[in-house]
Amino acid sequence: MTGERVLVLNGPNLDLLGRREPGVYGSASLADVRAALEALARELGCSVELRQTNSEGQLVDWVHEAWDAADGIVVNPGALAHYSYALRDAIAAVPRPTVEVHISNVHARERFRHHSTVSPVAVGVIVGMGTYGYELALRGLVERLRAGAPER
Ligand code: DQA
Repeated sequence: MTGERVLVLNGPNLDLLGRREPGVYGSASLADVRAALEALARELGCSVELRQTNSEGQLVDWVHEAWDAADGIVVNPGALAHYSYALRDAIAAVPRPTVEVHISNVHARERFRHHSTVSPVAVGVIVGMGTYGYELALRGLVERLRAGAPER
């Protein structure tokens, strides 16, 4: 199969990427991430749509939307990863494989970042690889979909 549709969802404060704590998150903006993912999608023969919101409810709604409109999800939940049971339940409810991405190595940072509500319901987790982690996630997700692996 080719032409997989992948939704790339970003949570709170990721609109500030490139300007926010560049020592932690790097200098690439979310627009740069979108451009890199669109180029990779062309290479892989899939499609990507990147979105960002600062609202938990909006992120939950987009995960629901993926049930009908996407084959898989890449999500960087931002800080919601550390406390959102609503996002975790949405990902568990929707039978589409989801890869969790964190730009920074959350395990090398403050203790509250070591736990993720999302990781147990994700098919994979990529942390600490900078914004390149989004590309790794897209490659891994497409590979998994093409292998016909189960939803999670
Ligand atoms: C982040 C890590 C989170 O702990 C933080 O709240 C973010 C970004 C990352 O991509 O490294 O907003 O998800």
